[in-house]
Amino acid sequence: MLPAEEFDGSALRVRVPAKLNLFLAVRGRRADGYHELVTVYQTVSLHDELRVALLGLPGRRHHPAARRRMRVELWADPAVPQGRDNLALRAALRLGELSGIVPLEGSAGRDAVRTIIDLDKQIPMTAGMAGGSADAAGALVALNRLWGCGMTAEQLRSVAAELGSDVPFCITGGTALGAGRGTEITPVLSRGPFHWLICPDPEPLPTPEVFRAWDQHARPTDVGPDDVLYALRATEPAQLASALHNELEEPAFRLRPELRDRKQALLAAGALAVVLAGSGPTLLALAADPVAADTLALATAPWCPGAVVASSPAGGPELSDEAETSDTAPLLRTLE
Ligand code: C5P
Repeated sequence: MLPAEEFDGSALRVRVPAKLNLFLAVRGRRADGYHELVTVYQTVSLHDELRVALLGLPGRRHHPAARRRMRVELWADPAVPQGRDNLALRAALRLGELSGIVPLEGSAGRDAVRTIIDLDKQIPMTAGMAGGSADAAGALVALNRLWGCGMTAEQLRSVAAELGSDVPFCITGGTALGAGRGTEITPVLSRGPFHWLICPDPEPLPTPEVFRAWDQHARPTDVGPDDVLYALRATEPAQLASALHNELEEPAFRLRPELRDRKQALLAAGALAVVLAGSGPTLLALAADPVAADTLALATAPWCPGAVVASSPAGGPELSDEAETSDTAPLLRTLE
């Protein structure tokens, strides 16, 4: 908990959703080592929450000079990557650097103004659902407001692209076509909702390993996303089920053959379709409606511990002022 008496009202909450890739085709390996992708991103109702606050003695925290040198601290569960290993902290430090804020480290500046980033993690980690990227996007959106940086969404997306391939989409949210490394974002129409059972796997599968397996065993394709885009406009789960496509699935299944068996078991339990989430290892099971998603969750609970029912699309990062986040207050603003 943040010490309430130190608040000056400059505290914000941001909810940031996880993402699904409803379509992911790999066009080939690029000279910079990344892979050229065509993907359809969609946010889903599973989210992390970040609370950002400025703490310090009254007077100092409003003073522009005092705020130029401040401590930036991440508070998170020990299971979450700490310090600069955490993408949300890296995002904060990069935004600070671009905005003329010098971060104080170690024992320096014990009395300095502090920015706290308090992270509540719900999105599974190293799961292929952009949890770390969502946190980075949340930190950028919230601190842009808290620190008064005045960056536009476009400028934030360009900072986001430095941090990771999925971060620009996480700034935008909703449904979008991704190109290049995944950082070139074009919003597209999706009706919905679509209903999912999200089945995380306890053993992480690092993204670089999956792309390396793609390098060794796969070839670029020219499959396009039209069927998925059409199904999203039509709101017909069966149509989306036959269009879901992820070319990282085979390389991931080579590395982790048991995921193929789990996919078959989810299909046998009644899923309309099952697709790997991004680079995995999470599996996404599409259900016909919310009742079918709950039924699937019950049927698979013994061998899918930690599975959650969710719906898509969700919006983008939702910012709210701390004072206005009572139980009844609506979440206020969504970055366009
Ligand atoms: O961009 P990000 O840091 O999230 O990427 C993690 C890793 O995933 C990269 O280091 C790279 O190995 C792989 N990657 C890729 N092509 C992409 C995106 C990610 O090869 N378009």
